[in-house]
Amino acid sequence: MRLIFAEDYEDMSCEAAKIVSGQIYLKPQSVLGLATGSTPVGLYDRLVQLYQTVGLDFSGVTTFNLDEYVGMSSENPESYHYFMKKHLFSRVNLRPDHCFVPNGMAEDLEEEGRRYDAMIEAAGGIDLQVLGIGRNAHIGFNEPDIKFEAMTHEVRLDDETIRANARFFAREEDVPRYAISMGIRNIMLARRVLLLASGPEKAEAVYAAACGSVSPKAPASILQLHRDATIIVDAAAAARLPEAWKEKRFYNF
Ligand code: F6R
Repeated sequence: MRLIFAEDYEDMSCEAAKIVSGQIYLKPQSVLGLATGSTPVGLYDRLVQLYQTVGLDFSGVTTFNLDEYVGMSSENPESYHYFMKKHLFSRVNLRPDHCFVPNGMAEDLEEEGRRYDAMIEAAGGIDLQVLGIGRNAHIGFNEPDIKFEAMTHEVRLDDETIRANARFFAREEDVPRYAISMGIRNIMLARRVLLLASGPEKAEAVYAAACGSVSPKAPASILQLHRDATIIVDAAAAARLPEAWKEKRFYNF
């Protein structure tokens, strides 16, 4: 695992954009796994800037998002699909037919999970998976006590996640209770993983991910076993990590 100690949200987003754009330059046909939420918005803004200023070319790129709320269509402004269109898909030259998000409207969610996994496999697997982290150390919507071997499947959101995500809705009651999410196994199968964390409310989760024992109680801790995982943390999210790790900008273990 590699850690990059960024100063703040801006710095974290810049470092992340270097890694994602580097991936696309090296392999124009890259398959990216993408996340929603507040954390990657700065990364997406910087990728859009690189597209506009130096012509970062997304035309060969395929994307698979981690998750979607059950019962939400892609036209619903609160859906993750809509979020991605707004923050990235509509702002760069990604081909619309190369951008995939699980279908939260599918009648048979088990079948939808199998279909999504098969599409990822047919695309050659994920080259670089971008992740945020929940306050309870979830990745995707793999909440504590998830089975590590899970592929894309229906999940029930934790109360803590529902409270955290209420900020995107008019009322907490409106936050969907169920989602369809890539599983931990999908994430572990990605060739590279890039987890971003910003803000003091993520400090515990980052500690559990990087320093805690590997356990389904802290789903992100599994990344300690990934062959190529990088965590970019800002100073607030790194608050609980050992001071010795932070002496340089990079720390590897
Ligand atoms: C989003 C996702 C979630 C978020 C996490 C952090 O697609 O899968 O795991 O990354 O809940 O959300 P923010 O960034 O809003 O704090």
